[in-house]
Amino acid sequence: MQPIKPHGGILINREASKQEREQLIERAPNMSRIELNQREVSDIEMIAVGAFSPLTGFMNRADYESVRDNKHLASGLPWTIPVTLSVKSQEADKYKEGSQVALYQGKEHLLAILNLEEKFTYDKEKEAAAVYLTTDEAHPGVQALYAQDDLLLSGQITLINHPNNLTFKEHRLTPAETRLFFQEKQWKRTVAFQTRNPVHRAHEYIQKCALEIVDGLLLHPIVGETKSDDIPADVRMRCYEVLLDNYYPKNRTLLSVLPASMRYAGPREAIFHAIIRKNYGCTHFIVGRDHAGVGNYYGTYDAHYIFEEFDKEAIAITPLFFDHTFYCKRCGGMASSKTCPHTSADHVILSGTKVREMLQKGEIPPVEFTRPEVAQILIESMQR
Ligand code: ADX
Repeated sequence: MQPIKPHGGILINREASKQEREQLIERAPNMSRIELNQREVSDIEMIAVGAFSPLTGFMNRADYESVRDNKHLASGLPWTIPVTLSVKSQEADKYKEGSQVALYQGKEHLLAILNLEEKFTYDKEKEAAAVYLTTDEAHPGVQALYAQDDLLLSGQITLINHPNNLTFKEHRLTPAETRLFFQEKQWKRTVAFQTRNPVHRAHEYIQKCALEIVDGLLLHPIVGETKSDDIPADVRMRCYEVLLDNYYPKNRTLLSVLPASMRYAGPREAIFHAIIRKNYGCTHFIVGRDHAGVGNYYGTYDAHYIFEEFDKEAIAITPLFFDHTFYCKRCGGMASSKTCPHTSADHVILSGTKVREMLQKGEIPPVEFTRPEVAQILIESMQR
């Protein structure tokens, strides 16, 4: 069986060759410059390593509008989230189409060079309504969009240096590296699990249900920018490690991080997350309840229904849909509304707020909700 093809057929690599890098570093001081925000930095890393294949840079107007209005790139390939670079419209003259622009992380760290193809204005409210299905500024994705500048620059990027202070280096595999890993392990079918949270029993259950029918599991937590009240990535990583060590088969699991930023775009982000994991070489992708959701902006299963809008062959990675799962005392195990005939009175379901309160008080939540080793790490991190 051939490995799954990257989106668009080719795994993009936008890292400069040695010679190109030296030339660009020499020319960079004479180029116009942009200091990037955190999301732009992680988008560049994602583009450069091929995680956003077939994108080779920031979107031009045709792709941007096609993605916003039709959930496909102008080429007709499915794509649901705009990947854009914004600058102040008053500075438009600084950036000439056809020129090269130096992209910096902070003041000093040269990250990439942009071959500036096009500059264009855009309608933030229209993007918010189409992508996030709300124009409410309280939505974190909409908030980030409204904070962007007013002019977008498009064009191919070339990575000069990786972002500085890279975290989790030993767990930061590129798509080429995860693909090689799956090949060496002879995993023909690999399921990816996206998460921005510690893994609790419900997550563990759906991962293991999936693992029953495929060869390997890629636990692929997102470690780019998340909302300030999400649990920090370094704490989560310790939770994942202790969980895998104690409860997962070593030869069937890989923990690696996804350097992307969360958008909280619910259904559209589920498609985006699936396509990215296809680029990492996964054949299956878990979509549970309210995937990539926040607050009450999306229906519980909207991230399942959106897959019906796409040509299965164009998406290619197989989504595995899971209903809301929980521990049922009468079933004596993990279950979902699809498998459990009992009522909610028998189910162990705790709200995020309740769990946080317990952890803050140093109380370990019920073992039916979370593994005690995971709770212990969360308690210690909150007490610090
Ligand atoms: S997400 O923003 O990364 O989607 P989270 O880390 O909470 O958030 O969820 C990771 C995955 O597990 C998502 O696919 C989500 O739909 C799924 N999920 C989370 N909790 C449950 C649950 N209780 N039952 C079923 N699926 C769940």
